[in-house]
Amino acid sequence: MYCLEVKELAGVAWDALRERARHASTQSYAPYSHVTVGACAVTSDGRLVEGSNVENASYGLTLCAECSLVSDLARQGGGRLVAVSIVAGDGQPIVPCGRCRQLLFEHGGNELLVDGGVGAPPVTLESLLPQAFGPEDLKVRQS
Ligand code: THU
Repeated sequence: MYCLEVKELAGVAWDALRERARHASTQSYAPYSHVTVGACAVTSDGRLVEGSNVENASYGLTLCAECSLVSDLARQGGGRLVAVSIVAGDGQPIVPCGRCRQLLFEHGGNELLVDGGVGAPPVTLESLLPQAFGPEDLKVRQS
């Protein structure tokens, strides 16, 4: 478990998040695509959670770095994600795939900030996944 010390854009130490995500990408298992991905997020109580993509010979079973990250969150006892950086092996941010936008929404909601890259502003998850279906919908749609 790590705590961020540097405060930057929107109160988030993006450089630190990005560097930890890049390091997580070195722990990826990507023998098929050779696209190594790492993710690092900070929680509302200042913890860091991380993940790496894990591929499978049955390609469709591949776990994205964000899947691993939310597993790390659960393993640490849960909490809310407030900012996340997802990077490929070159250290540059990638946008989360559609499935992972939904995964991140569950644990960070519309306000979750997603790394936009060096010198670029972060984007909200809401802008990447508008009108998301989530836990609140389940509560009011049960028969
Ligand atoms: N990948 C992720 O880890 N996260 C994403 O949001 C996009 C894609 C991984 C899955 C696969 O191992 C590799 O990138 C190429 O698609």
